[in-house]
Amino acid sequence: EEDNVGTVRQQLAELFKTSLKETLPEDITAEPLIQASGGKFGSDYQCNNAMSLWSRLKGKSAQFKGPPSVGQAIMGNLPESEMIESTSVAGPGFVNIVLSKEWMAKSIQNMLKKGIKIWAPRLNVQRAVVDFSSPNIAKEMHVGHLRSTIIGDTLARMLEFSNVEVLRRNHVGDWGTQFGMLIEYLFEEFPNWEEVGEQAIGDLQEFYKKSKLRFDKDPDFKERAQQAVVSLQGSKDENDKYRKAWTKICEISRMEFQQVYERLKVDLEERGESFYNPYIADVLKGLENKGLIEESQGAQVISIKGKNIPLIVVKSDGGYNYASTDLTALWYRLNIEKAEWIIYVTDVGQQMHFEMVFSAAKLAGWLPADEKLCPYPKTNHVGFGLVLGDDGKRFRTRSNEVVRLVDLLDEAKLRSKLALEERGRAAEWTEKELDETAEAVGYGAVKYADLKNNRLTNYTFSFDQMLSDKGNTAVYLLYAHARICSIIRRSGRDVEELKMAGTIVLDHVDERGLGLHLLQFAEVVEEACTNHLPNVLCEYLYNLSENFTKFYTTCQVVGSPEETSRLLLCEATAVVMRKCFHLLGIEPVYKA
Ligand code: ARG
Repeated sequence: EEDNVGTVRQQLAELFKTSLKETLPEDITAEPLIQASGGKFGSDYQCNNAMSLWSRLKGKSAQFKGPPSVGQAIMGNLPESEMIESTSVAGPGFVNIVLSKEWMAKSIQNMLKKGIKIWAPRLNVQRAVVDFSSPNIAKEMHVGHLRSTIIGDTLARMLEFSNVEVLRRNHVGDWGTQFGMLIEYLFEEFPNWEEVGEQAIGDLQEFYKKSKLRFDKDPDFKERAQQAVVSLQGSKDENDKYRKAWTKICEISRMEFQQVYERLKVDLEERGESFYNPYIADVLKGLENKGLIEESQGAQVISIKGKNIPLIVVKSDGGYNYASTDLTALWYRLNIEKAEWIIYVTDVGQQMHFEMVFSAAKLAGWLPADEKLCPYPKTNHVGFGLVLGDDGKRFRTRSNEVVRLVDLLDEAKLRSKLALEERGRAAEWTEKELDETAEAVGYGAVKYADLKNNRLTNYTFSFDQMLSDKGNTAVYLLYAHARICSIIRRSGRDVEELKMAGTIVLDHVDERGLGLHLLQFAEVVEEACTNHLPNVLCEYLYNLSENFTKFYTTCQVVGSPEETSRLLLCEATAVVMRKCFHLLGIEPVYKA
């Protein structure tokens, strides 16, 4: 990756680093504060160090008479660079930077030649865990799990693009007390369950409901179910009947989950709660040796400063819980898997749980206590809001049932197929093309509608909105991309040849605007990654298509004297759009 020179902001920061060293007295150091100006002040970027430096420099040197003079000095000490066209100091000392359009053109061309991988952000992490999706066996996989699946997959994709090795972990709930009643119910209702297998259980959701009913009504059954949990969790023998029944139930759930992952093309490795169970005792022993575990009302707990309640790690009945499993999983990920960054994607409701687990890990010395001094390894809980229906309440079916995710996705595909047929465009397509486009658009619409909002806000699920071809939707963006491809196709020119031989020129203001936006791709992905905000990337993608429209409206492409350069800009836009789609888990379409 030696062609990867870092984001524009990083490259500018290098120049300003040199200048700051030159400008400041020995005992004062500062990291360059560089920001894209977003079109303000007629500049592309600005350096904001002068204001905060002034308060530290005041009275130290006669050279500095106020923030603007600090800005002037920083500007004056900038090394020569082909990146920069001009600089100026504005207002209270901002150093404004106008990039050289020749340099911009060259950078875009370089990307076209070498591929978009040279624009990958450079993060200081080798290996990360993304813990996402994580439904519970035998309970429903609901829209919350869908959000986790979509958001987690995007975060994993962005990290992978940034050359981080990602362990995609499905932390399925396969070890809860619910198994006692499920297994006991299976044994009682279907004594021949080993022969009938799946058929006996049928719809696992229904099966869960029936056994729960029995559990709540019949104290004897309840007692036997609780005993079954003990037998299951205590057994070490694969051929034990409790183990076998558990395996069967997990398999049935897995098949249902898999249908969702296949449709969404999400890659995940199952590492359920049961996986960590054999390690729990030792991990807790370690914590106990560090003096972190106390007894409270018969339970074993860890007190966390600033929290009213302690973290329970062994329940009063002696059993382990969600927290003991998560502590152990964290220990495993840090010590065995050597992950430097561990990201958990769940609804915001679990924020407190993760805060407590992370605090306990800091107390144990597994995680550095001071992130400023030592940023890695680190953990983040990436929370998200609820999915709402049109009525503003939790998203449900008309009959107020939990929506089956497979049905939801199938409906998205079906609706997008109908819309394609209605548009009349699909008439000349093969059945396969129609089907693939309907999938790309339908599933893409569901994903994009989720990702485009700040994840913390609740979002309203609406097929009509997400499948509209107007506004900030996947459909609109996919068609925008397809149109760019068709401009290139219809020109009759060979883009691969153009990439090698042609030259980009950014003379027109809308060419330059589009070029600048393209160049900012890397820093947007970096921000989306570090702050876990996929909506930042969606916003970028939407603005890219707006910038392109502006360019295409004012600048004639095919048949103009600038045809070669402009076709290359079309291609660069298509390449960046496709990378955005890829990072968002959306399949591009080439015909619309
Ligand atoms: N199974 C949990 C749920 O459905 C989510 C698990 C998230 N991951 C974790 N390591 N706790 O709410």
